[in-house]
Amino acid sequence: MRRALIAGNWKMYKTDAEAIELARGLAREAGNLTDRDVLLCPPFTSLKSVSEAIARTNVKLGGQTLHWEKEGAFTGMVSGPMLKSVGCSHVIIGHSEQRQFFGETNETVNKRVKAALFHGLVPIMCVGELLAEREAGKAEAVVKEQVEGGLKSITAEEMKKIVIAYEPVWAIGTGKTATPDDADNMHRFIRSLIAKMYGDAVAEGTIIQYGGSVKPENVDELMAKPNIDGALVGGASLKVDSFTRIVRFK
Ligand code: 13P
Repeated sequence: MRRALIAGNWKMYKTDAEAIELARGLAREAGNLTDRDVLLCPPFTSLKSVSEAIARTNVKLGGQTLHWEKEGAFTGMVSGPMLKSVGCSHVIIGHSEQRQFFGETNETVNKRVKAALFHGLVPIMCVGELLAEREAGKAEAVVKEQVEGGLKSITAEEMKKIVIAYEPVWAIGTGKTATPDDADNMHRFIRSLIAKMYGDAVAEGTIIQYGGSVKPENVDELMAKPNIDGALVGGASLKVDSFTRIVRFK
């Protein structure tokens, strides 16, 4: 009953010309899938041109963050209405790189999630523990704090529109993937948190993506797990061949 969502987070990669080439290739190879959702999250500079490259396909477009105000003197930021105006349906929020390098906290995640919902964007709220936290046996406690903090005063109706991405920080860009069982266990834990906050029906409907070194070689076994409903892919989303294979997981 949960529709798989495979998203490519291009991070700070691709000039505009490169982005157009990649988006055109993906539109050709994965543009007509109907049993799963495919989402591209290029840098802000290429949202418009990627939007044009995927027009009239089923591929969706997302931003990599947003500011919570709709406009204002916030140099360097973009807002929900701006993302909507170039065709975005989704926005990544609280990515570990934003937390690590740009001062993102659970409080700012919460503000961004609310702003995304207000402007009709699907928030993909990222959570995940550091290696030291996992080794200290604190992975679940950290993720719990991130889930509860990020979702503070979000209603059940709103929760139905939110996607969660579990990205253990030690698995991002390292080639080390969480084992399918470890990932599935954390996804089950996250779903149980959602159930406590919003009830079983909302929790059963919540899409929880896994992110962290998802590759053509491991996507099938990850996606076979009952609580893994999609993937948020970094490095392997930057090439047509590898992302196409991931999107076409079996
Ligand atoms: P990698 O797939 O490169 O490990 O990145 C994962 C990620 O951070 C996606 O948001």
